[in-house]
Amino acid sequence: MSHQVLVFYGSYRSDRQGVRLADYIVRSLREGGAEAELIDAREIGLPMLDRMYKEYPAGEAPAALETLAGKIRSADGFVFVTGEYNWGVQPGLKNLTDHFLEEWFWRPAAIASYSAGRAAGVRSAVAWHSILSEMGMVVISSALSVGSISKALDAEGRPVGEGGAALARAFPRFSADLAWWMEAARTQRRTTPPPY
Ligand SMILES: Cc1cc2nc3c(=O)[nH]c(=O)nc-3n(C[C@H](O)[C@H](O)[C@H](O)COP(=O)(O)O)c2cc1C
Repeated sequence: MSHQVLVFYGSYRSDRQGVRLADYIVRSLREGGAEAELIDAREIGLPMLDRMYKEYPAGEAPAALETLAGKIRSADGFVFVTGEYNWGVQPGLKNLTDHFLEEWFWRPAAIASYSAGRAAGVRSAVAWHSILSEMGMVVISSALSVGSISKALDAEGRPVGEGGAALARAFPRFSADLAWWMEAARTQRRTTPPPY
């Protein structure tokens, strides 16, 4: 049975570039047989956090939250595509993730970072590592890091140039690592109910 993977991306900028990497990852995961879906925080457009999903009485959460909660609970794993704003995480994606907690539990997550410069957003990747751990995900050790994002991927998310070639070389190990942990977690959830 194929794995269901949600790929999260959270820039709200008009001229955003990281969507190229998100598109590349969704397409590449699908080519590898996964059921991958882009979760674009800007498109979902949640307001700044007021109530978390779980703070609403059952059946009374706004439709966007209810739908997303269902998708998160059904997923086998997650990819977080993250750019770096002033050495930190992008607020749109952080705001979206903070709406949920238990819905994330007991699944693996992978981080793919990028930036306009050569540092490839790795400082935001480090920040996301602890955030995702706190939210109950197991962060896999394989990561993608793409510098000079607009030179490594074209507007359709196709790898170009040296940066694109490096990304294409790195992707198979990244996706194999995630797939192994998704399968492991799926088996474990089936055979041993989570303790809480
Ligand atoms: C508010 C802001 C802060 C930024 N801070 C950093 C930074 O700390 N490190 C970095 O490498 N790039 C930084 N950049 C450049 C981003 O890497 C680049 O704009 C990237 O395309 C942002 O992702 P997005 O286009 O998907 O929004 C920053 C950009 C913005 C808009």
